[in-house]
Formats: sequence, C-alpha cells, structure tokens
Amino acid sequence: MPNITFIKVDGEQVEVDATVGNTVMEVAKELDLPMLAACGGSLACATCHVTVDEDWYKRLGEVSEDEEDLLDTAHYLTATSRLCCQIKISDDMDGLTVRLTPME
Ligand code: FES
Repeated sequence: MPNITFIKVDGEQVEVDATVGNTVMEVAKELDLPMLAACGGSLACATCHVTVDEDWYKRLGEVSEDEEDLLDTAHYLTATSRLCCQIKISDDMDGLTVRLTPME
C-alpha cells in the first residue's frame, strides 16, 4: 500500500497507507480531512483542489482538459494544482504528498 501524506492548511501532516485504486479524494474523505469534494468525484465542483510539489506533479501525468477547465475556477490556484478526485492511487505513488487548500 503506498504511503500518502496530506498536509492540512494549518501545517498538520496526516499520513496514511492508501488503497490502490481509490482516488486521493476518497482517501481524504475516509480520513475526514477538511475537504468538501462536493460533487463526489464527478469532476463538477473543484472543491477537491490540492497542490502537489513539482516532481510529483510531473509524475502524476497529463491533466485532462476538463480538469484544467475546472481548475481555472478554483481558489488558490497554483502551477501544480490538481483536483484530487482525478488522481487514482497506484503502487508507484508511495511518498506522494498533497497539500490541502482552504475550504470556502
Ligand atoms: Fe468535485 Fe473533485 S470532487 S471535482
């Protein structure tokens, strides 16, 4: 199980061994982390917005056009922003760290 770290807005870090095949959003919700994820992962809300570091951003692969469009509506957008309902966990994601964004 790949180990994933969430960094909350206040800096607290939460580590978890994540189940392959789940999305990062699903893992965050299971942990009851402060993330709205209002559309339940159907790529319609942008409230599962996280940022990743540059290396991981590249490793996670192409961002779809639909995700790009929705990200444009997100607050606190960065060059390495992702919608984490679109990041499916795989074995090679051990060490992935995502930073949560403030809920609004
Ligand atoms: Fe709505 Fe990810 S949960 S876009």
